[in-house]
Amino acid sequence: MSHADDHEGTRRDFLYYATAGAGVVATGAAVWPLINQMNPSADVRALASIRVDISGVAEGSQLTVQWLGKPVFIRHRTQDEIDQANETPVEDLPDPVARNANIDGEAPATDPNRTLDEDEKWLVMMGVCTHLGCVPLGDGAGDYGGWYCPCHGSHYDAAGRIRRGPAPTNLPVPVAQFVDETTIQLG
Ligand code: FES
Repeated sequence: MSHADDHEGTRRDFLYYATAGAGVVATGAAVWPLINQMNPSADVRALASIRVDISGVAEGSQLTVQWLGKPVFIRHRTQDEIDQANETPVEDLPDPVARNANIDGEAPATDPNRTLDEDEKWLVMMGVCTHLGCVPLGDGAGDYGGWYCPCHGSHYDAAGRIRRGPAPTNLPVPVAQFVDETTIQLG
């Protein structure tokens, strides 16, 4: 084998490796298309407010709906998740602010200030990582029993508060309310 052939072989190997690596990164970490936010189509604009039936969302599971072109997580939390979230002192949080559009913007990021109902069972948040916009993985993912963004390793806890990684703020809670026992209105 000549020296030139050798070189070609090495380059092919490298390209194959790079492609395989890119595939792994893309899995489970889709970047939500920015175009959705910048130029919403007429049908998306028409749905500035939507109602979501949550009667089928069992405790310990979550529903992801699309609203205004972005994913929204609606989680029915277990008592364990609620307890875990309440045991964390607000002083320990990298972002101690509630980020809840339904209450005072400067309120502390306690669990009651993040959840939608008095029992703190329902947590509604934008499903967009506050670092660079990936969609975090849920169902207890990450080191804090909440959500994990594999793009650059951001860990969120059971109340959607950032605990470790490059994301600067908690996952925001959008304008939302219960309109009856089994229906949540977004917007
Ligand atoms: S986009 Fe989530 S950690 Fe970077």
